[in-house]
Amino acid sequence: MTYRVIPVEPFDYIVIGGTGDLARRKLLPALYHRFADGQIPDNCRVIGASRRAMSNEEFQAMTRQALKEFIDGGARDDATMERFVKTVSYVALDAASGEGWSDLAAALASGANKIRAFYLAVAPDLFGDICARISEFALVTPQTRVVIEKPVGRDLESAKKVNDAIGRAFTEDQIFRIDHYLGKETVQNLMVLRFGNMLYEPLWNSAHIDHVQITVAESIGVGSRGDYYDATGALRDMVQNHLLQLLCLVAMEPPESIDANSVRDEKLKILKALKPIDRDNALAVSVRGQYRAGAANDGAVPAYVEELQSDRSNTETFVALKAEVANWRWAGVPFYLRTGKRLAERVSEIVVAFKPIPHSIFPTGTGTIHPNKLVMRLQPDEGVKQWIMIKDPGPGGMQLRHVPLDMSFADAFDIRHPEAYERLLLDVIRGNQTLFMRRDEVEAAWAWIDPILQAWDAARIAPSAYTAGTWGPSAAIALIERDGRTWHEETL
Ligand SMILES: NC(=O)c1ccc[n+]([C@@H]2O[C@H](COP(=O)([O-])OP(=O)(O)OC[C@H]3O[C@@H](n4cnc5c(N)ncnc54)[C@H](OP(=O)(O)O)[C@@H]3O)[C@@H](O)[C@H]2O)c1
Repeated sequence: MTYRVIPVEPFDYIVIGGTGDLARRKLLPALYHRFADGQIPDNCRVIGASRRAMSNEEFQAMTRQALKEFIDGGARDDATMERFVKTVSYVALDAASGEGWSDLAAALASGANKIRAFYLAVAPDLFGDICARISEFALVTPQTRVVIEKPVGRDLESAKKVNDAIGRAFTEDQIFRIDHYLGKETVQNLMVLRFGNMLYEPLWNSAHIDHVQITVAESIGVGSRGDYYDATGALRDMVQNHLLQLLCLVAMEPPESIDANSVRDEKLKILKALKPIDRDNALAVSVRGQYRAGAANDGAVPAYVEELQSDRSNTETFVALKAEVANWRWAGVPFYLRTGKRLAERVSEIVVAFKPIPHSIFPTGTGTIHPNKLVMRLQPDEGVKQWIMIKDPGPGGMQLRHVPLDMSFADAFDIRHPEAYERLLLDVIRGNQTLFMRRDEVEAAWAWIDPILQAWDAARIAPSAYTAGTWGPSAAIALIERDGRTWHEETL
């Protein structure tokens, strides 16, 4: 199985925060892979920028080191790596003081007609300063784009401020708000499954779908991100962006085309149709949790507060919600969302649970008829399983069995599966915003999240404790079981 590689136009990618964790772990390896596949011409430039003084050679050595650390030996070729490293250079600058920006302007002067992309791989409180400098030094050409990482704000008001600051330097069609979940193969495949097949769409509504589950579970703790995380929590860190974006793609109406604004218009309608969760219902439909000491794959693990080196914290490391989309298609269909750290497994998946059949023609004793489920797994092992009932093969008479039709990509297609960032970094160069969030989407998501945060604050309820290495507090299990349903578990 081969895939087509279409080279992109020559570009200059300026990674501000080029020496940081995101750049080394994700961005440089992703650009290397696209380069190795022949998608990035040799005359492209990747310019790292941050405050520390560094020569080009030192930044190239850091890039080489990052590629060795974060790309498997088998997927890396030394000669290609050396060619890639030649495209990399460095400028020292300070977003806050303005120092070094004339050096960047001088470096960019030779690429005035190229596509230019600024990737802001820095703390969000620097976004405004950086955009102001980019304007001040007249670095925005008609071919310029800017990529910003989450989080865009920490509530609706601050998100508007960030968006205003970026909007003073760039027009909306130049702004790429990245949510790397949208670059995952399975997420893009969700759109193809829904809109490239006749099979699902006629059933994709409250008449045939019982409920939807979206789980983004991490097995790791907060590690070195404790300060950021403790001021943020799972609702802001994961639900406002990743989980709501996935919910939108499951729930949206068929867009007119795959064009960015058609898709984003439909997603926005879903965000606006979400039934409010506020002081009236938050205690009934939301669960907050925080992990205490327990066990994970690597043995005994400390409690969240111990990782923080603190006595107490009111921040949630787990959240489960029962959301509802108040429109004709989804009336009465709950969307159960859950995400957390130090859970039993690292898994992200969307489960679309169909309704039970209306009447069984099979006698008792032939086996239970389970409702169909479509399970889309984002990580690990990206793939799709359609659970169906079949006759158990063999001469034992009519016995029914619940089995998955497995569409696992790793088995079906013998190719390396690109990381989400590979697709997204080059979509920026192609000017394709379909998999990026528009300003009104981000703000609509915050407008739904803010009342949940306010309701939690008002109720002054501490997060329920759960043991590290489990599936969260028992209240999260009760949240779905009260409705006569259970969280999906893979069993055969
Ligand atoms: N790491 C991830 O996997 C990940 C995932 C999703 C989102 N993000 C987001 O991506 C952003 C970067 O995260 P990170 O983990 O890479 O952070 P990080 O490791 O702390 O790196 C921050 C980078 O910014 C530079 N920097 C800091 N202040 C600066 C200034 N005033 N002017 C110019 N450069 C400055 C730092 O270098 P100097 O100190 O030399 O200036 C460093 O290169 C954050 O917004 C984060 O929320 C990260």
